[in-house]
Amino acid sequence: MSMGCERYGAIIMFFFITILLCVVGFLEAGGGSAVQSSRIIRWRKKHKQSQQEQPAGPQEPTRCNVYEGSWVYDSSYPMYDSTTSCPFIRKEFDCLKYGRPDRNYLKYRWQPNNCTLPRFDALDFLKRMQGKKIMYIGDSLSLNNWQSLVCLLYAGVPNANLSWQTNTSISTVTFQDYGVSVIMFQSHYLVDTVKEPMGRVMKLDSLNDGALWKTMDVLIFNTWLWWLVRGPRQQWDYIQEGAKISKDMDRMDAFHKAMITWAKWVDTDVDTAKTKVFFQGISPSHYNGTEWNEPGLRNCAKETEPMSGSTSPSGPPPALSVVKEVLSSIKNPVSLLDITAMSKLRKDAHPSSYNGFKGMDCTHWCIAGLPDTWNQILYSELIA
Ligand SMILES: *[C@@H]1O[C@H](CO)[C@@H](O)[C@H](O)[C@H]1NC(C)=O
Ligand SMILES: *[C@@H]1O[C@H](CO)[C@@H](O)[C@H](O)[C@H]1NC(C)=O
Ligand SMILES: *[C@@H]1O[C@H](CO)[C@@H](O)[C@H](O)[C@H]1NC(C)=O
Ligand SMILES: *[C@@H]1O[C@H](CO)[C@@H](O)[C@H](O)[C@H]1NC(C)=O
Repeated sequence: MSMGCERYGAIIMFFFITILLCVVGFLEAGGGSAVQSSRIIRWRKKHKQSQQEQPAGPQEPTRCNVYEGSWVYDSSYPMYDSTTSCPFIRKEFDCLKYGRPDRNYLKYRWQPNNCTLPRFDALDFLKRMQGKKIMYIGDSLSLNNWQSLVCLLYAGVPNANLSWQTNTSISTVTFQDYGVSVIMFQSHYLVDTVKEPMGRVMKLDSLNDGALWKTMDVLIFNTWLWWLVRGPRQQWDYIQEGAKISKDMDRMDAFHKAMITWAKWVDTDVDTAKTKVFFQGISPSHYNGTEWNEPGLRNCAKETEPMSGSTSPSGPPPALSVVKEVLSSIKNPVSLLDITAMSKLRKDAHPSSYNGFKGMDCTHWCIAGLPDTWNQILYSELIA
């Protein structure tokens, strides 16, 4: 257990250093990856009848859970060549540039059991999204996902007229010919952390950044990686709930409360007729071989193939239950990009030591690679 925590700490440290190194040019590189599609589960409590509006028969895919499936070898993959088609992949994710010798990890396509995902079509995506702003909000796994979409789009329209705008917390890539902006908003916890005389106070009830978020057309949220972080890398000194300020509290409880704050914001502040809201599920890491039937292993360094089949031996992470429970309480339409189970099978898809920092990273994902499938799913959901 303590060993697991140390591992976790090491990963977080790795990422934190990454952040520090990148503060100046936070998103100077626009990476992308492909989006893969699968059906997103609709969480509607109050609008059950709207599901019945969708006729059966020709709408076959709506009855397919795209998250149930397996990885199949596909020689036409990857969706783009990251060495030639996306010149701005960040060094955390650019596995081939940093010497990854094996290529099979690029060759797997997600095959849902009962349907097939549409192939990612960058031109179609840009035309449909004309004039729209798409924002990823969250930690470095959002950055990973954002990088993937930027690459998928850029690789599909290589002569695109791009503009880049970057500051410490926001990075925007605009495909000017279509007026489509793909934006990364860095937020470790979604809820606010405020500098006060006593120190940095994380406020579980407050979501001030939402004022900007709700002006977007598509929002893809994610948070979890930082909730268990303690010690010097922890991003706050006190935690506040209502009027009560404490030095710490149960972290899963805190995560749950922050998610509820976010859920209330979605219901009260977001015009979901205009803004589509997605929550990117918990991205799994691979530091414990027990989770893929190799109990001795403590990282993903030797992995070159995904797990076969549809399930991995370990169950879903507890944080995913919190996410699902909170999403089910939201009245407005929100989609869970339920990428956890499919990603658990991809022990082969992490950078491991093939990244610009040489640290062992079994938390993030190579670009091109797995997040391209996440975005393929996002695409399929946006065009549905
Ligand atoms: C690895 O995972 C298994 C099963 O979840 C658990 O029993 C074991 O304690 C974990 N090992 C470490 C080192 O965390
Ligand atoms: C999906 O396919 C599997 C087997 O291929 C079948 O058992 C299952 O009933 C199907 N599910 C739906 C919703 O059609
Ligand atoms: C790119 O788009 C901008 C804004 O529309 C325009 O001012 C600029 O001339 C374009 N550049 C090229 C090379 O097309
Ligand atoms: C970063 O850019 C955004 C959008 O342009 C802006 O609202 C925000 O104030 C900027 N932040 C800083 C620290 O400059």
